[in-house]
Amino acid sequence: MADLTVQEQVELIREVFSYANRFQNSTFVIQLDYAILAQESLPDLVKDLVLLRQTGIQIILVPGARGRIDEVLTRYGIPWELHKGVRIATPEAIPFIKMAAFDTANTLLTHLTANSANAVIGNWVKARAHGVRDGIDFQESGIVERIKIDQLRAVLDQGIIPVFPCIGWSAGGRPYNVSSRQLAATLAAELHADKLFFITDAPGLFANEFTVPEGIDLTTEGRVSRMTVNEAREFIDSNPGHSAETMYELIELAYASSIHGVERVHILDGRINGVMLKEIFSNLGMGTMVHANIYQSVRAMRPEDVPDVYRLMRPLVDQGILVQRSEDHLSETFGDYVVYETDGTIHGCAALHQYGGGVAEIAGVAVDTRYSHLGIGHKLISFLINKSKRLGLSRIIVLTTATVDWFRALGFHEGTRADLPADRRSPYDEGRRSRVLVLDLG
Ligand SMILES: CC(C)(COP(=O)(O)OP(=O)(O)OC[C@H]1O[C@@H](n2cnc3c(N)ncnc32)[C@H](O)[C@@H]1OP(=O)(O)O)[C@@H](O)C(=O)NCCC(=O)NCCS
Repeated sequence: MADLTVQEQVELIREVFSYANRFQNSTFVIQLDYAILAQESLPDLVKDLVLLRQTGIQIILVPGARGRIDEVLTRYGIPWELHKGVRIATPEAIPFIKMAAFDTANTLLTHLTANSANAVIGNWVKARAHGVRDGIDFQESGIVERIKIDQLRAVLDQGIIPVFPCIGWSAGGRPYNVSSRQLAATLAAELHADKLFFITDAPGLFANEFTVPEGIDLTTEGRVSRMTVNEAREFIDSNPGHSAETMYELIELAYASSIHGVERVHILDGRINGVMLKEIFSNLGMGTMVHANIYQSVRAMRPEDVPDVYRLMRPLVDQGILVQRSEDHLSETFGDYVVYETDGTIHGCAALHQYGGGVAEIAGVAVDTRYSHLGIGHKLISFLINKSKRLGLSRIIVLTTATVDWFRALGFHEGTRADLPADRRSPYDEGRRSRVLVLDLG
């Protein structure tokens, strides 16, 4: 701060406070490559991570151990092979791989302890064998199958920093070597993390090394500073020849996490002092970020969507949760509906029916159960709330039998039949005994 004027220092402090408030109770998953863990600057990086925890951000650390595993296997004279960047872990190598993975996690734990942070290494990863691919048996290399999320949340709720070595276990306790990057991406998706970080020893993705989507945001030195999820998809499709490269792998994982609800994925150069704080608490933008445009998957319903929307609603109608709507009715009212679509498939829908007097009703909200808990419902509703605001409406009502708490969490409060517009009161179905919820748009 010595080079800054007093006014600049004040501005900086203001900026930090505003960001700190914004991220209270957020969840960040942070994967650190071994190349960074082996740097002399590691104590500074860990100090910054502990500061993040102290500002109320839940952090989860996933140290990579690739370099350490190489060192240990070399030292004990155990040969190894890679196929498409994945290590083939032999039964002979796995005890040494485990040792190296825990050694790396311990190094991180030691630095966290030096900063008075509470941290714990856990066995929350269920894995299964990678199996035989391209005719190659990956033996004891595994892929992440499931994370014990409830146990992990219990640790996070106590303010403890969980540290994940790159090992997962089968139900019978057999250890597998898993990729720390894949593990971090799975963790972020399952926790619905606000951010996922890949801390590497590279300064980000450079446009001159790959085919990048047209019009993408570049810095003066040619670094891709940010891309949307759609641009990330385009990047993946246009660079198949680079699939074994780190940046390609990271963008692929960033894309996969983003479509599962992680809002932002940051690829940062951990050699830069303070890189995490700069990225989070300022608007400088240090590496390459893949971000979800939260509304990108919500679009107006089209007539050709009617059969898909009908199919989506049917099981909910059968369970008595939604009111019956025929395909004809959907064809007549499709203009009121929005759908949530990814990769050409509709996973959710919702309608905004307008009445006179600035009042509209949100209805027909449905999310495919296979895609529930991914925030799709919230995105549909917040899209319709924003639309209502743009239309200058003053009130939204909802009639529901089974989803009162869910709408309450979105800011709705309980109303009565008297809150319904006159032309909605008569078709109100007494038999369903729906509850009336209201959102005033101020
Ligand atoms: C309600 C519904 C739209 C939620 O969709 P979704 O995409 O899973 O919702 P989100 O991911 O945005 O939110 C999920 C959260 O809401 C909570 N939730 C889901 N259904 C709920 C309900 N009926 N009551 C209270 N909370 C509920 C979940 O516990 C979840 O929390 P978690 O992620 O911390 O576990 C979906 O479950 C659905 O289609 N339900 C049946 C149709 C319906 O009731 N429509 C509303 C009447 S018009």
